[in-house]
Amino acid sequence: MTEPTPVYLDCDTGVDDAVALAYLLASPSIDLVGVGTVSGNISAAEATRNTLDLLALAGRDDIPVAQGAHDHLDHPYGGGAQWVHGENGIGGVELPRSPRAADSRTAVELLIDLSHAYAGRLHVLTIGPMTNLAHALDADPTLPERVAAVTAMGGAALAPGNITAAAEANVYNDPQAAAALLAADWDVTLVPLDATMEHTMSEQQRERLAADERPFVSAIGHILDHYFDFYRDTYGHRTCALHDPLAAAIVGGITPSRAPRVPVTVDVTDGPGRGQTIADLRGQRVAMRDHDGVRTRIVLDVDAGVADHLIDTILAG
Ligand code: BDR
Ligand code: CA
Repeated sequence: MTEPTPVYLDCDTGVDDAVALAYLLASPSIDLVGVGTVSGNISAAEATRNTLDLLALAGRDDIPVAQGAHDHLDHPYGGGAQWVHGENGIGGVELPRSPRAADSRTAVELLIDLSHAYAGRLHVLTIGPMTNLAHALDADPTLPERVAAVTAMGGAALAPGNITAAAEANVYNDPQAAAALLAADWDVTLVPLDATMEHTMSEQQRERLAADERPFVSAIGHILDHYFDFYRDTYGHRTCALHDPLAAAIVGGITPSRAPRVPVTVDVTDGPGRGQTIADLRGQRVAMRDHDGVRTRIVLDVDAGVADHLIDTILAG
């Protein structure tokens, strides 16, 4: 039995962030050692509240939750995506209020502390705008030397965007931060819409969560209800894309089937391509070729049954 991987999670909790959190708590191969929050789906303060409430319901008040950036690198917080995630970010479900306050450290301070405590082993999973990561790299340029790997949900290589024609929401909300994360000298697995839009959860799978007798697991099933309505127009039936949960599952051991190491740059202009991730896939169709010296791999396909893996792990947790 190998040691579980220590993971710092950076998130904008968020319906699919909540599902990812449930998976990370349940996975035997992951030790969630800290959570930082950022504005995105909702404000950083609301993401902090949701995370504290979810962890309390899961009986995991031992995990520190540190509030991160409210505003992004070159612009203020945009007001959230309530039409996707509900007014409170978690599908309108009212969780019991946790009496716990956020950690006294900022998300940047928590991440840097954890990078020392778990030097060489810490895995960073970011599933919101990458603002905190950019601030952390700025505050401590030696951070990548102590981080084993970064997994980031964001971007779109060949798929269309989901917030503009070209851009995915996490990158669009802070393109400069995504660019800083991709430019740093560490191993990054970028999990874009190309992969996440291809993995969905069925109504039967959602109901298995909602019917569970544990209040935390059941709450995750109910939180997904609003999200399933949002995705009806996209897929033609009630379901949801598994953006953040897929990124978490890749940290937990699901192996992507196509994930070439290629240069990825971010459009940080104010033009129509703002927030686009430009992956250099020239000449690649079937067999994928890694570019020499590139430390970013971009996940194009995952063949595994992701929803089953997520549900089975959460229910067994
Ligand atoms: C990403 O944007 C957010 O709305 C989701 O939580 C996910 O992290 C998908 O584009
Ligand atoms: Ca998210």
